[in-house]
Amino acid sequence: MSTTVEEALLGRRSCRAFRPDPVPRAQVERILDLAARSASNSNSQPWQVHVLTGAAKRALSADLLCAYDEGRRAAGEFAYQPGADQWLEPFRTRRRRFGEGLYRDALGLGPEDTEGRRDHHRRNYEFFGAPVGMILTVSKLPLQGALVDAGLFLQALMLAARGAGLHTCAQASLLDFHPVLRRHVRIPDDHVVVCGIALGYADEEHRLSTHRTTREPVSAFATFYDSADTKTRVTA
Ligand SMILES: Cc1cc2nc3c(=O)[nH]c(=O)nc-3n(C[C@H](O)[C@H](O)[C@H](O)COP(=O)(O)O)c2cc1C
Repeated sequence: MSTTVEEALLGRRSCRAFRPDPVPRAQVERILDLAARSASNSNSQPWQVHVLTGAAKRALSADLLCAYDEGRRAAGEFAYQPGADQWLEPFRTRRRRFGEGLYRDALGLGPEDTEGRRDHHRRNYEFFGAPVGMILTVSKLPLQGALVDAGLFLQALMLAARGAGLHTCAQASLLDFHPVLRRHVRIPDDHVVVCGIALGYADEEHRLSTHRTTREPVSAFATFYDSADTKTRVTA
């Protein structure tokens, strides 16, 4: 069955509960092959992907969980996000709504239930039960442009996964433990970790699978210009 681009875009969501069913390596390779069709600056293709399954994934998860439990967070290789109390509007409100949807509505956790929230966050390091865990890295020479390219690659990978009936979750939470990742996979010194990616079949019965996010309407982020002097006449 072929998936349209529209179906893939509308069907993609961050999946945080996977079934253990394995994904054949040929299918993962096909998804990566499709993702690599992404545009990049001068076709530089600055990405690399490390794909972990089976014992390799279990060993990485065990070390990540250990580092998480011991609070061994490392300084970031680049600024991925502001500190929790440094988010500015309108992003602060959107982030709060996202958190309410996930923790309160899907998981039934209150704002003070730090242990429950921590338990959920911890599942990032098990790739939410997905059979495939990936680490996406890019060359940092130079970094900002490569991060744009990595974003395109990441989205293409997630859409290609939908085309194969699979789900994904991008995972910046792995960035806190990039030294652990470097011990498990061969990341060149001139590369930075962009994020992890969980890949597999969704467990649609899990309560986390009810979680959906909303989007701002086009009018909130797009401005249309149709005459030469539009800019001077912009109104609210
Ligand atoms: C680069 C990136 C990193 C992310 N990191 C995490 C993560 O560590 N853990 C997590 O549960 N979700 C993570 N997400 C998922 C976002 O929370 C999610 O994309 C957003 O809330 C929109 O929801 P949707 O993907 O279901 O449409 C990440 C998304 C992106 C693009």
